[in-house]
Amino acid sequence: MSQWTPDSWREKPILQQPHYNDLAALKEVEAIIANYPPLVFAEETRQLYKQLGEVCQGKGFLLQGGDCAESFDEFNAPKIRDTFKVILQMAVVMTFAGRSPVTKVARMAGQYAKPRSGDFETIDGVSLPSYRGDIINSFEFTKEAREPDPTRMLDAYHRSASTLNLLRAFAQGGLADLHQVNRWNMAFLENNPLKERYQDLATRIEDTLGFMDVIGLNSQNTSALHETSLYTSHEALLLNYEQALTRIDTLTGLPYNCSAHMLWIGERTRQLDHAHVEFFKGINNPIGVKVGPTMQEDELITLIDALNPENSPGRLTLITRMGADNLAQNLPRLLRRVKQEGRNVVWSSDPMHGNTFKASSGYKTRNFDAILKEIKQFFDVHSAEGTHAGGIHLEMTGQHVTECTGGAYQISDDDLAQAYKTQCDPRLNADQVLEMAFLVADHLKQAKS
Ligand code: PEP
Ligand code: CO
Repeated sequence: MSQWTPDSWREKPILQQPHYNDLAALKEVEAIIANYPPLVFAEETRQLYKQLGEVCQGKGFLLQGGDCAESFDEFNAPKIRDTFKVILQMAVVMTFAGRSPVTKVARMAGQYAKPRSGDFETIDGVSLPSYRGDIINSFEFTKEAREPDPTRMLDAYHRSASTLNLLRAFAQGGLADLHQVNRWNMAFLENNPLKERYQDLATRIEDTLGFMDVIGLNSQNTSALHETSLYTSHEALLLNYEQALTRIDTLTGLPYNCSAHMLWIGERTRQLDHAHVEFFKGINNPIGVKVGPTMQEDELITLIDALNPENSPGRLTLITRMGADNLAQNLPRLLRRVKQEGRNVVWSSDPMHGNTFKASSGYKTRNFDAILKEIKQFFDVHSAEGTHAGGIHLEMTGQHVTECTGGAYQISDDDLAQAYKTQCDPRLNADQVLEMAFLVADHLKQAKS
């Protein structure tokens, strides 16, 4: 077996990559980024690893979410703040109901590269390279915009650094205060058509905080009430960028990918003998892999062993994205086999990517009921198999977009045009995502009892 190096992936077949014409410019950009400071510190990734190790043992839950693709145009503080807020709101509801810690991981500060179903997009007889995410090319349908440009990696780096900076400030600077977060939840419920259903939980959280206050536990003297930790993650698709941010940690002497705390491999690039699996073998971060309905049991065990040969809890999260109609048939056989072979993994559910369709209006959308159905089945199947439903992975935004149909406000096909802003897949909006948090909370409570 040849030895792993940060660039050993270059010897392997690779899918879903841009075709750069100017190779000298590409090399130059890679060298620049390789000299930039890392975006995260290896020790932070080890803390996340440890928390995921707990989740793996059934003691905790992983909440991962954010945009399908972050966009350079929509790079601003309100957008970052709103997504941060809903992640926190969800986490509070889920922590309280599930009586177990929730590890928060944002799909932010680097989620800029996208796999696509085709290399080309054709509109009115004109074919241009597909949009592959802002780190690669631009969304606009012109020849110039769609040309992959390596200097966009520099823009992605700087935007990721600023996003991370603001997230850290929010997490530690007071915005994450639990009293504050529950006030947002109460405000969300105030206007919600499903108020009756969820009011009780939010009121109990408020009472608990009130009680703690009376006995002297408050934001001034208890840091756990005042600040939080939020980790970052993205699909490590563009390996030129990921390699440039891979560094040897001075404390352990081991390689870490310092572009985010957690990285994952997508459903379309997880071939055992290909570049992405090769690259992931050598980085020491906690990692994820998407697992779709076609995954076979033997194939999964081989993949797990390639990525986590030490069988270390917390290293590997399997993010299943089966589709509401396929899950019951395909998830149990995988759970059984992994359990039987004693492999330590975190099981997380991505209820988004198996439930995408084109609405009659022409928009790519997802139906909230199908998303909930996949989540419900995910919990049911884990409960039946005696395994731990360890997390959810969502495409969501804190803003009031209309991209997925259904939910308490009954968004219809006709409503999609009102605020359809995604450059890629449809996201749950702030209301839908909180509604989901209350429902997940119910499942966590049941799983606990
Ligand atoms: C994604 O998470 O945005 C994605 C492309 O998912 P998958 O690899 O599961 O298709
Ligand atoms: Co997506």
